Amino acid sequence: MPLSEGYRVRPAVLADLQPLQEVERASSRLFIAYGLEESFWGLVTPVDALERACQQGMLWVAVDAGDQPVGFALVKRKDGAAHLDELAVHPVHGRRGLGTALVEAVCGWAREQGLPSVTLSTLRDVPFNAPFYTRLGFVEMPETEAGPELRGVRRREQEAGFPMQRRLLMRRTL
Ligand SMILES: CC(C)(COP(=O)(O)OP(=O)(O)OC[C@H]1O[C@@H](n2cnc3c(N)ncnc32)[C@H](O)[C@@H]1OP(=O)(O)O)[C@@H](O)C(=O)NCCC(=O)NCCS
Repeated sequence: MPLSEGYRVRPAVLADLQPLQEVERASSRLFIAYGLEESFWGLVTPVDALERACQQGMLWVAVDAGDQPVGFALVKRKDGAAHLDELAVHPVHGRRGLGTALVEAVCGWAREQGLPSVTLSTLRDVPFNAPFYTRLGFVEMPETEAGPELRGVRRREQEAGFPMQRRLLMRRTL
């Protein structure tokens, strides 16, 4: 899906961070229609995690024509691969290719870093989660193939009360 005119994706700088929690909050409200609890959709990435990722070059923003951030992707390293830890696009700017462009930016970076794959944990039955990633070349990753760091991600999701029967790990081989 091509990116709509006026938008672009670029690495984040510290001046971009202020609106990102509101972007994430607004994007997470999309989950309400899919029967998910506030304990799931009410979570936002802490500011210090955004700052750290930004300083490490592991945060990308989608910006509008006025260079204002309306979406972001935050990546971590887990078990020797890139792990897409958070992806959010403000619904006002949704379905214009920004989510796709952010995922492609992360995959491009991971490839440049010589990493073998990009992993993520998502919901099976929400159209903008697993089906969206499937169209971008991600496939389900058996839990048995998860290394210790990814298993830690799953454990923390369970402890936070996420609906684990609806969640799956996915991986795109680069
Ligand atoms: C996932 C997300 C980042 C996608 O952003 P986006 O900019 O809309 O993505 P794109 O425009 O590249 O692709 C959109 C595709 O995803 C699906 N999609 C996106 N929003 C949707 C919605 N509200 N309802 C149904 N399908 C939706 C559609 O298949 C859509 O393609 P289409 O518009 O051609 O039908 C965004 O929906 C979001 O922030 N969601 C809430 C947070 C989230 O789920 N993050 C990922 C967690 S692992």
